[in-house]
This record gives sequence, C-alpha cells and structure tokens, in this order.
Amino acid sequence: LASVGLVGLGVMGRNLALNLSRRGYKVVVYNRTKEVTDRFISGYGGSGLTPAYSPDEVARKLDAPRIILLMVTAGKAVDDVIRSISPYLSSGDVLSDLGNSHFRDTQRREFSLDPSGIHYCGVGVSGGEEGALRGPSIMVGGPSKAWEILKKPMSDISARAFDGTPCASWVGEDGAGHYVKMVHNAIEYVVMELIGECYGVFKALDFSNGEISDIFQLWNEGRSKSYLLEISAKVLRRKDELSGGDLVDKILDSAEQKGTGKWAAESCLELGVPAFSFAVAALDRSMSSFKLVREKASSLEPNRVNKPNLGRREAQEALGTAFSGAQLCAYAQGFSLLEAARNEYGWHTDLAEVARIWQGGCIIRADLLKQIREALLSGAHDSILLDPDIHREIVKCDKAWRNVVSRALEARIPLPGFTSTLAYRDSLFTERLPANLIQALRDYFGAHTYRRVDREGVFHTDWSGG
Ligand SMILES: NC(=O)c1ccc[n+]([C@@H]2O[C@H](COP(=O)([O-])OP(=O)(O)OC[C@H]3O[C@@H](n4cnc5c(N)ncnc54)[C@H](OP(=O)(O)O)[C@@H]3O)[C@@H](O)[C@H]2O)c1
Repeated sequence: LASVGLVGLGVMGRNLALNLSRRGYKVVVYNRTKEVTDRFISGYGGSGLTPAYSPDEVARKLDAPRIILLMVTAGKAVDDVIRSISPYLSSGDVLSDLGNSHFRDTQRREFSLDPSGIHYCGVGVSGGEEGALRGPSIMVGGPSKAWEILKKPMSDISARAFDGTPCASWVGEDGAGHYVKMVHNAIEYVVMELIGECYGVFKALDFSNGEISDIFQLWNEGRSKSYLLEISAKVLRRKDELSGGDLVDKILDSAEQKGTGKWAAESCLELGVPAFSFAVAALDRSMSSFKLVREKASSLEPNRVNKPNLGRREAQEALGTAFSGAQLCAYAQGFSLLEAARNEYGWHTDLAEVARIWQGGCIIRADLLKQIREALLSGAHDSILLDPDIHREIVKCDKAWRNVVSRALEARIPLPGFTSTLAYRDSLFTERLPANLIQALRDYFGAHTYRRVDREGVFHTDWSGG
C-alpha cells in the first residue's frame, strides 16, 4: 500500500508527487481526467508512483491513517473532490488541500468534516513548480493532531531554512495555513512592486537592462539578498528568441493577479490592519491593466516624464538603500497582519516559526528573514520595526530613501510601492496623526462623537453654535 495519496496532477501536483517519490514515499496518484494520469505514469512510472482511477481506488490503495493531498484548482474543484473522496475515508485520516484556497473556505470545510473525524488541513505551499519538485516552503494549518501525521512527509519534501531545519511547520488551526500563504503572497506582491519601481527609475535614467541586471545582482550579494532580486537579474538578461533584443522589452506592461493579493488587502480592511502597501501593490497591478486608458491619457501629455535629478551612481546607491528599507516595511506589514489574524481567529501561530519556514523554498525567501526571526523571538510582535536592530536599519535607510523618492516623484515617475512603504514607516512612528480633525468633521456632520486627549468619556459638540 502507498503512504500518500495525491489528487490533481497539474503543474504543482505532478512535481509534488515526484518530490515525494524521490524521497522514498510510495504515492498513489489520481487525476479527474484519466489521460493525464496515464501520461504521468507512462512518463514516470516505476518510481514509487501508482495510478488510481477513482476516488475510492485512492482510498483503497492507502495505508491507515490515510494521507491525501489535494492539488487542484482553488474554489469549486476543492469542494467537488472533497465530496467525491470523503465517503471513502475514515476517522483519523488526513485530507489536506495544498492549493491557494481562501482561508474562510478552509475554515468552512474543516468545520463540515469535523464530525466525521477526518482531519482537514489547509496547507500553504510556496515555491512554484520548481519548489514543488525540489523543496517548497510548507505552511500547515489544521488540527494539531493532523500535523503529527503530516510532519514527517512534509518535512522530508520541504526546503531547508538557514539553520538546516525543514521549511515545513504547523502554523495554526483551521484556516491558518492558507492565511499565512496569503500573507506570503501579499509580501511577494509588494516586493515585486518595489523591484518594478526600481527598474522604472533606472530606465528613466537611461540604464540598459543589462546594467540594471548587474545592479540587482550586486544588491543580491549584500543585505537585500533574496530570490526575487536574483530572478529579476536573470529576467533582465534574457534575450527574445522570437524577434531579438531583450525579452523584457517585448512583454506587455499589464500585470495580472489570481486573488491572494486582493484577499490580503480585504483582510487588512476587515481586521483594521494598516498594511497600506498590500492594497497598493494589488491595485497597482489593476492600474497596469488599465492599459487602454493609460495610452489615451498619456497621449494628452507626451514627454511627461523627466529624467530624475540624480547621478547614475547616486541613483544606484540611494535606490539600493531605499529598497532595503522598503522591503523591511513590506515584511513588517505582513507580520503585523499575521499578529492581528492570530488574535482575531484564536490561532496559535508562532510568528518566529513563520519567519523560519519562509527562509527556504518560497518566493519571498530572503536573508532579512534571519533578522526578522530574531526580532520576533525577542518579542517584537507589535511590529518588527520596533526591534532595536531593525529600527536602526530603517533609520539608516531614511535619508537615501526620501531623497530618491522625492527626486523620482519630481520627475513624475509613479512610485506607489516606495511611497506607501514610506508612509507606513512615517505613520507608525508618528505619535499624533491629524485624525483628530477627521473625528471633529465626523462629529460635525454626523454626530459620530469623539474622545478627548484630556479626559475620559465620549463627547459630542453642537457645531452650529461656533
Ligand atoms: N503554479 C504555482 O506556482 C502554484 C504555487 C503554489 C500554489 N499553487 C496552487 O496550487 C493549486 C494547483 O495549481 P496548479 O498550478 O498545479 O494548477 P493546474 O496545473 O491548472 O492543475 C489543476 C488541477 O486541478 C484539477 N481540477 C480542476 N478542476 C477539477 C475538478 N472540478 N475536480 C477535480 N479536479 C479538478 C485538474 O484536473 P484536470 O487535468 O482533469 O483538468 C488539474 O489536475 C492551485 O490552487 C494553485 O493556486 C500554484
């Protein structure tokens, strides 16, 4: 009998099945479309992979307690598969959804399976297809009992953190795994936005793609070392096989999104967490896809963008520093959202553990996660920016960050990522914000009342008299 069942042989499912079988697991694989299963088995059969052609066959071919991993399209497909396979499962089996499901769907599914004794887990997996094959970062949410069963296989197939430990962990009850993955993706959106904005400023200063690639590579050898910088340097060097020149210049500037970035922004609004940059990064993708409107608008103002008033060397250094500060603010917003979610939903999420399992395999793996983990271990749960070492870093970035942002804004280059991270940094460190005037206005037109700084209670003023 096999020890793991894998349902869904798309890009991710195939690679996860291969990863498991390479680590010595016997895997029974099943896909809704039979030909997909046959094609996969004929390509890779004989390596610990056994086909199944129905949900009950998957169940029959598995040792107890069964471990079943679902890697199907998020949404209705997950409900379809659960409905088709759960009648063949027993109490104590573990059914895990490894796709990008919304955490509320995961909560609902766990709740409805709970009476059957089947342990339902929502598992965030990051690393793309390469990660799925060689070792992803795995964020397991669900009953802690299920983690006892999943721990070994998930640890075996995962990437490794800086200290060599597996990048797989239990991150909390019910929807926590998918929530942590959603926040991971939101941070990914912001960091990509920041890299895109750096590229935009360099282009305005007439740097070639090759030169920008060299700069990203250089940054990647220093404090900002991260997977996203590493692949940005590679992407900028790629030549176009269809018509020559640099491939990046041929790609339409209209960024798409699948939903996790939007969900994170929605969750910020719902929980009242001021992670500005999550909304900005998702919405700036929407702005990029307003391509036709932007074309019309820009034809009204040709030659609108100027060259920023920055020397090339100065731009390179200042942007590098600004990127490092802004990147820290992106992660800070993510951990602050996680802190709020774990309080709201009663999850036992260990934030330092999240910072550890993001160190390898996932898209937002970056050297700074070591420092972030240490900050969280020392208790910087209100905000990692309050940790003395991280705070010192942020202060060091300030001058260059502000200088490069103002020079670029003067030149009319849009920088939603850099300005929103900077606004986050500034607002967080401002004791008195002008929200008192907002409260007064609310009270003026809507009698919404306000609280005072000098005495307890709730007050309303009859503003007509003043
Ligand atoms: N691609 C990535 O880099 C990545 C990274 C992390 C997480 N994810 C998440 O992982 C999940 C799978 O992604 P993928 O890229 O592997 O997708 P994919 O290549 O599009 O594969 C989708 C799989 O779902 C199956 N499926 C679709 N609807 C179904 C239904 N109603 N009933 C049963 N099976 C159904 C498909 O079966 P058929 O062959 O029969 O159509 C196929 O096996 C998604 O939630 C995705 O967001 C993806």
